Amino acid sequence: MRHLLSVTDLDRDAATRLLDDAERFEQALLGREVRKLPTLRGRTVMTVFFENSTRTRVSFEVAGKWMSADVINVSASSSSVSKGESLRDTALTLHAAGADALVVRHPASGAAHQIARWFAEMPSGSSGFAGNGPAVVNAGDGMHEHPTQALLDALTLRQRLGSLEGKRIVIVGDILHSRVARSNAFLLNILGAEVTLVAPRTLLPVGVGHWPVRISDSLDAELPGADAVMMLRVQAERMNGGFFPSAREYSIRYGLNERRLALLPEEAVVLHPGPMLRGMEIASAVADSPKAAVLQQVNNGVHMRMAVLFRLLAGAEEVVA
Ligand code: CP
Repeated sequence: MRHLLSVTDLDRDAATRLLDDAERFEQALLGREVRKLPTLRGRTVMTVFFENSTRTRVSFEVAGKWMSADVINVSASSSSVSKGESLRDTALTLHAAGADALVVRHPASGAAHQIARWFAEMPSGSSGFAGNGPAVVNAGDGMHEHPTQALLDALTLRQRLGSLEGKRIVIVGDILHSRVARSNAFLLNILGAEVTLVAPRTLLPVGVGHWPVRISDSLDAELPGADAVMMLRVQAERMNGGFFPSAREYSIRYGLNERRLALLPEEAVVLHPGPMLRGMEIASAVADSPKAAVLQQVNNGVHMRMAVLFRLLAGAEEVVA
């Protein structure tokens, strides 16, 4: 694996290997007083975030540090991006400064792919370092993809449900602006699950007809047959001030409240990638209920990102732990 830009870079075997590696890392660290493995000693991971993040940025940093990598966080606001430096010059600069992996979040769909292309076009050795530039990890590009989120969600579902084969996963809400929804729809399909989207028609993307999913208008109708329900944040910041349906209508039709929670089967799981808007798409009583796996998702995010950095940076002969 050279980069991780999209879940469609993975087939079922490659995705399953990453889930297995993440669980091995979790086991390897379990009960240790010092959570430090030597796996990536001498490697440098740089995270560069042009959009805010809590979970993704922190978990990549923890993942790198627990594997003994040097981790450097670059925020756009405190970098020379604020002086007008281009994305290309920023990426090439971080390569020349010694990045082995570049973890990128950017508001533009395709930004991580573009950076990987710039590295591929660079003459070998031109930065003073051998090879074709750092491995690029897409940590969320606009409304396009968030592959490590989908992987950690798949891991959480596998842990809760035993397997993903044939499982019915309902993804609810602002699909249009959600890179999480797109990555999950495709990855869950790769892993054998059946995905249904429930959303207002105004919050479905053009082209959703080509996704491997069913589409439904009724959350109440889908819940009794669901193995898991994944709630999404309404991304008002990407809506240019317009929001239809209104927040109240949205919450009534698409919010997961206690009444709807009771429609789910006993063993069903509730996911949310965070950040949650409590009272909007998910009631507090649901977010904090035993069915909710929100904090398990965050915890799995660290192990999943360890697995991804390991696959990208460790030698083929190295073992997880
Ligand atoms: N789920 C997710 O990407 O959260 P952050 O924006 O906090 O990283």
